[in-house]
Amino acid sequence: MTNYELLEKQAREMIIADRRYVPALSNLSAALMDTLPDLNWAGFYLLREGRLVVGPFQGKPACVHIPVGKGVCGTALADDRVMNIPDVHKFPGHIACDSASNAEIVIPLHREGKAAAVMDIDSPVLCRFTEADEEGLKRIAGIIEELVEWENIPD
Ligand code: SME
Repeated sequence: MTNYELLEKQAREMIIADRRYVPALSNLSAALMDTLPDLNWAGFYLLREGRLVVGPFQGKPACVHIPVGKGVCGTALADDRVMNIPDVHKFPGHIACDSASNAEIVIPLHREGKAAAVMDIDSPVLCRFTEADEEGLKRIAGIIEELVEWENIPD
């Protein structure tokens, strides 16, 4: 089981070291990958020009663009809700970036009250993400929303 209390503390320290989104989200994706067991991808997609664009991540190269409303990530952003998918092969419209992925959790991140990015985590293990993971990851998302500076996202 993941020690989310410790991860929250690490997340705060990492972001405070440099609040700009590249250093903050790069180190956070590494911390997620390193801390949560059984992952094959952990990272972020950012809303730019009306679509999601891949941001800092750990794992295999991924889809660069995801239309809002498409796939697990685009649905999480469009509906502004956490998507905890126990078996991605049963999710209509799932976008397969890494064929190793079997379960996925996506948490929307807000800027000025609007969903403007997502945290996306994939696992080769079916039913990988428990309620405790969902709660812990929502708290990490809250820390990102509170501390990360998004202002300098270039177009
Ligand atoms: N599976 C995602 C696409 C992104 S990758 O998992 C890194 C989706 O369906 O939105």
